[in-house]
Amino acid sequence: MSSSSTDKLQLEILQILNDSKDGIISNTLEDPKLKSIDSNTLQAVLTSLWSKEMIKFEKLEFDKWSLTKESESFIAKGFTPEIEVVNEVLNNKGITIKELQGKLGASANVGQGKAFKNKWLSKDKDVLIAQVETLPEDTVLNELKEIKEKGTLQDAKELTELKKRKLITPVKIIGYKVIKGDKFALEIVNLETDITSDMILNSNWKDLKFKPYNFNSEGFFPQSGALHPLNKVREEFRQIFFSMGFQEMPSNQYVETGFWNFDTLFVPQQHPARDLQDTFYLKDPLKAKKPEDEEYWKNIQQVHQQGKYGSIGYRYPWKEEESLRMVLRTHTTAISSKMLHDLAKDPKPCRLFSIDRVFRNEAVDATHLAEFHQVEGVIAGYDITLGDLIGFMDDFFGKMGVDNLRFKAAYNPYTEPSMEIFAYHKGLGKWVEIGNSGMFRPEMLESMGLPKNLRVLGWGLSLERPTMIKYGVSNIRELLGHKVSLDFIETNPAARLDELL
Ligand code: PHE
Repeated sequence: MSSSSTDKLQLEILQILNDSKDGIISNTLEDPKLKSIDSNTLQAVLTSLWSKEMIKFEKLEFDKWSLTKESESFIAKGFTPEIEVVNEVLNNKGITIKELQGKLGASANVGQGKAFKNKWLSKDKDVLIAQVETLPEDTVLNELKEIKEKGTLQDAKELTELKKRKLITPVKIIGYKVIKGDKFALEIVNLETDITSDMILNSNWKDLKFKPYNFNSEGFFPQSGALHPLNKVREEFRQIFFSMGFQEMPSNQYVETGFWNFDTLFVPQQHPARDLQDTFYLKDPLKAKKPEDEEYWKNIQQVHQQGKYGSIGYRYPWKEEESLRMVLRTHTTAISSKMLHDLAKDPKPCRLFSIDRVFRNEAVDATHLAEFHQVEGVIAGYDITLGDLIGFMDDFFGKMGVDNLRFKAAYNPYTEPSMEIFAYHKGLGKWVEIGNSGMFRPEMLESMGLPKNLRVLGWGLSLERPTMIKYGVSNIRELLGHKVSLDFIETNPAARLDELL
């Protein structure tokens, strides 16, 4: 429908409403001007008027009947086949069935059947004989006309009869009840949808009419990215660290030397963790440059080989090549080590953390991948002790609603004492390991040149574990990799670590 005919129809509806008795069109199907307009067009026009608050309307549905092609053709001709047949027989005395068929074609059979039934005809052998003197009234045609006009018939028996004859089919007819709206008028004012800077500058916004907001319409979902659950939990941990006065370490490098990843941490060169089965080594480049701090490099060699700072060392021939091999870092403690080495230039208490990716050559299963994220914290302080470590762990995990920790003696090459941290998992009904911790060894700290009484404690945990617990993921491959459901990523809620286990 063109826009000008839409406008015309809108004005027409407003006029009809205005002329109506109580400002109401109770059924558009009964209005002589509106009844023939198809319901889609009418509904579009009514909706547009409603959006301007000029009218309101209600959809009405009626079960009606419509004519089939066959019955439409009866109306077009002006008679039904039975009348056509009787007419022929009255006008042609002695006509045979064959002759009738020749004249009327298909209608001859239908018409004869009905005419015999109505007792308008009889036959003598092949000859048809009229049982009426004049043409009977075409009641079926009249009924069809009535249905065409009103969609139904008074006489229910006749209606079923016509249905049986397949002359009518049921249809749903749609009409509308229309009433005046708050802003009813006979003229249509076009409403502005947006306020523009021009309207404000020339002050005509005061005279313009604005389209009201439709608070019932559903907005469309904006396209946007979504944070991965690991990133959400990481963000929670970061906030906890920041709230406790920690600074974030620059952890954005995956490749380290054996030196920083192992040697500086007093991990002997023959330690099983350095095996190919546990660590990924780089093929290209094969070898790194020596670190700049030559004195430190020497200290590390000595503390491993013959011992230093009161330690007897490991007593093995320390090899430069092993130290210069390049690895995908197996823990973020390599970063902590570098940061502590920097701290030795200007030793003072500090708190550092990092949350980033590490790599281990592990068999992949439902809870392990060859890479994961570590949450790591380090605290340097004068004369701090194991008691401080335990106290701090209580505070740190307390922020996640995990209290009642247990500690178990453990072994790390770079810490002494070392402790695994356990918490009671209410869901699983058992104690689970939630982290690893310890006091960094003097072999490590004194090689860097840190003063003896500036002690450093550290701890680490995986980011995946709390994330899986928080989001109820039991298979790590649903969290990382090609099996991750994007829908899960887009719809999962923000992480709150106030009650972790
Ligand atoms: N690097 C240890 C791990 O990979 C965690 C840790 C960090 C332990 C610092 C003690 C001190 O599990």
